[in-house]
Order: sequence, then C-alpha cells, then structure tokens
Amino acid sequence: MSKSFFLTQGEEERAILVGVELKGRPSRWSLEDSLAELAQLARTAGVQVVGQTYQKLERINPATLIGPGKVEELKAMKEALGCNLIIFDEELSPRQQRELEKALKVKIIDRTVLILDIFAQHAKTHEGRIQVELAQYQYRLPRLTRYWTHLSRQVGGPAGGRSTMRGPGGGSTGVGLRGPGETQLEMDRRRIKERIAHLKEELEHIKTHRQLYRQRRKSVGIPIVAIVGYTNAGKSTLLNALANANVLVEDKLFATLDPTTRRVKLPSGKEVLVTDTVGFIQKLPPQLLAAFRATLEEVLDADIIIHVVDITSPHALNQSQTVWDILRELGANHKPIITALNKIDKLENPSQVEALASYYPNVVPISALKKVGLDKLMEKVEEILRSKYEWVELFIPYTQSYLLSLFRQWGIVESEEHRDGGVYIRGYAPPDLASKLARIKSTVT
Ligand code: GTP
Repeated sequence: MSKSFFLTQGEEERAILVGVELKGRPSRWSLEDSLAELAQLARTAGVQVVGQTYQKLERINPATLIGPGKVEELKAMKEALGCNLIIFDEELSPRQQRELEKALKVKIIDRTVLILDIFAQHAKTHEGRIQVELAQYQYRLPRLTRYWTHLSRQVGGPAGGRSTMRGPGGGSTGVGLRGPGETQLEMDRRRIKERIAHLKEELEHIKTHRQLYRQRRKSVGIPIVAIVGYTNAGKSTLLNALANANVLVEDKLFATLDPTTRRVKLPSGKEVLVTDTVGFIQKLPPQLLAAFRATLEEVLDADIIIHVVDITSPHALNQSQTVWDILRELGANHKPIITALNKIDKLENPSQVEALASYYPNVVPISALKKVGLDKLMEKVEEILRSKYEWVELFIPYTQSYLLSLFRQWGIVESEEHRDGGVYIRGYAPPDLASKLARIKSTVT
C-alpha cells in the first residue's frame, strides 16, 4: 500500500467539512449530496468528521474562497470542536489554501487532496502508484510555501526537513542535501521538480511498454470488455467474480503487465479479456485524470463497456451521469455499453431495479458479491459481440487447420462437421478473421 501524502498517519485527524455553492454555476450534485460524499471520502481516508458547514456565494473570494464572516465562524467551530483539519469540497488555489491556513492556524486540504490520498492508498500496480505520485507532486509544487513546509514538517509530508524525500511509492529522490545558499523552501522545490522529472521519465517508459502490450493484444484479436463505474460500485468484485467463476487460462503475457485484466469464458466457451479501470468520481482531480489518461485510454480499446452501477446508492443516477461524462471526455461514449445494476442482494424492494432500469441501456441486474446474474451478463456480452461478428460457413481443409484453430479461438462456433480432408464449420467470426476465411473460401471452392 502506498503512503498517505497529505494526511497524518497514526494520528487522529478530526475534520470539519466546508461546502460552497456558487450562484449561477450549474451542478448535478446538490450541496448536501456533495458534502455527504466528501464525508464518505474523508472516512475512507481514515479521517473523523466532527462537523460541517457551507456557504452560498454570489462570487468566489479570491483570497479565501469563502467570505471573511465564514472564516471567523470556522475559527470558532474549530476551537469548539477541537478539530485539526479543515476539508473544502472545492479545489483551493495555492493562495486560498495559504491564506486560510494563516487565518485559521490549522491544516487545510481540499477534495482533490482527499481523492489523491485515497488513490495513493489504493493504487495496486506499479504504474498506478507512479501516476498517483506524479499527480500528488504536481498538485503539491505550487502550494509549497514556507508556512506549508512548516506544517508538512509537523505532519511528516514529503517536503519535511528530512535528508531524503520519500513519495507515496516509497521512492527516494536521492537528493537530500541543501545546495549552497539554498533555503529549505528552494531545496524542497528543487527536490520535488527532480522527482517529477524522474516520475515522468518512468511513466514514459511504462507507456512504451503499454503500447507494445496493447498492439500485441490487438493483433491477437481477443475481444476486450472494459469494466467502468463510479468508485465503490463493485468493479473489482465483479472482475474477481467473473474470473473465479471461470476456469482461468494461465496467461503470462497479460498477467505481468496488467494484473487487472483477466481472461473470462463466455457461455459459448469463447474467451474475452475483461479489464478493470480506475474508479470514477465527481470532480475527479484534473491532475489525476491527466496522470491516469494512459490507463483510462484502455477503455478506447474495448469492444464492449460494462458500466457497473451501485443500485443501492441514492445517487446512482448522478454517479452514472458522472461516468458518462468521463466516457464522453475520453471519446468512448459510442461503444456498446451494458449496464450492470449491482448489489441487488441489498435491495429490500426489487421494484427499485425496474424503476432505474428505464434510464439505462442494456440493463442486467446483478450481485457481484453473491454471483447472481453473471451468466446473464456474459450472455449479453456474447449477444453484442455476435452482432458485431460476421456469419461464416465454409469448409476448411486439414492442410489449413491453423484457420480452424483461429476460428475456435476467436470466433463463436455454432457447428463443426468432419468431412473428407477437412472440417465444415458454421458460426460467427470477428470481421478480421471473417475476411481471412473468405479468402480461403475463394481458393478452396
Ligand atoms: P473502487 O476501487 O473504489 O473504484 O471500487 P470498486 O468499484 O472496484 O468496488 P469494489 O469491488 O471494491 O466494491 C466496493 C464495496 O462494495 C466492497 O465493500 C464490496 O464488497 C461491495 N460490493 C461489491 N459488489 C457487491 C454486491 O453485489 N453486493 C453487496 N452487498 N456488496 C457489494
């Protein structure tokens, strides 16, 4: 597990949450719902929420985001509730963060920091860790001030006065000594810049690998199903359930580079690659979106997208809108989407499924946890794949049996009939393979 970057570890953090509603700014999420989600994020990050407040503003205050009266109110709240952290639901500019810290004498963070921190704690792959660490440092660099440095030294952050700096991935910058005439702040900035450069280099390296891997995967022609969804919708649970429910073929090529991709068998016996992506969330920090772009772009390679929705969430529809927005931003919104309405085992009233189903395309109710509805889900995958495939019916001579293997592997076999000198096959094949087979047909018959 990666280290927390901004939050104190091992110490109790007691936080007040602050929401802001800006007049004239359209938002799908109400102030209350957004704050409720922020509280959930805080708890996920191990922070105790002791209070919350909000302000409806005509315009943003450039120095402190909220108005001076609200700052005073927060000061009193902080004393009364004994809090040591204030979390804003808006991304704060470096100046706002600085001014608020000065005025309130307490650590101030925003939603972005919380999300970055949670991602850091959850990043599983080497690439994921590097991406999060880069996003964290990029967020951190313009906010590195004398005051913040002082604070971060207290909380043991990366810019603290240690001789070496360790990022959440545990990597050292390897440059710990202050240069001649260099202030602590300058040294911290230099170390962060060097670390950013190093991480970018490493990410570039990984990107090249990933491109090779994607090319190879494409050339093999196995269909790809990408699982997307709002954070906590149950994507990983679904991937595991699908993988466990099927006899897995050992697949070293995919296993090493991307452990979140699994081979899964469809009802016909055909195999697909199912791949998990990072969880989406409203106000996904732009640094994170940029850093994770390469991972998210995997969705563009997918033949089918499974959108997992936590149907038990009161915000299921809002969450789905957020997912659709991100898919649109990635240019993946034209792909066939199956909506897996998840966690039906938790529903007291099954009619909730019907109520929501009308809002979504290709709905399949499931419980990833209890492995309910997974067969139906895979049938739907097969149905969509089949609609993209071409019908083929031909005789393959034994002398070209490699084509038979290809068909068995990548096509959907309806029937095989052994005849003199070969096999007569009927079924569906992906367009590439179908045209390959068509060429054979013209030479054989
Ligand atoms: P992120 O990693 O945050 O994007 O989450 P995720 O979408 O991968 O969700 P994950 O699979 O980690 O599941 C989140 C929580 O929901 C876990 O506590 C799961 O046990 C729970 N969960 C997932 N599927 C189901 C389900 O079908 N029923 C119930 N009751 N709980 C589920």
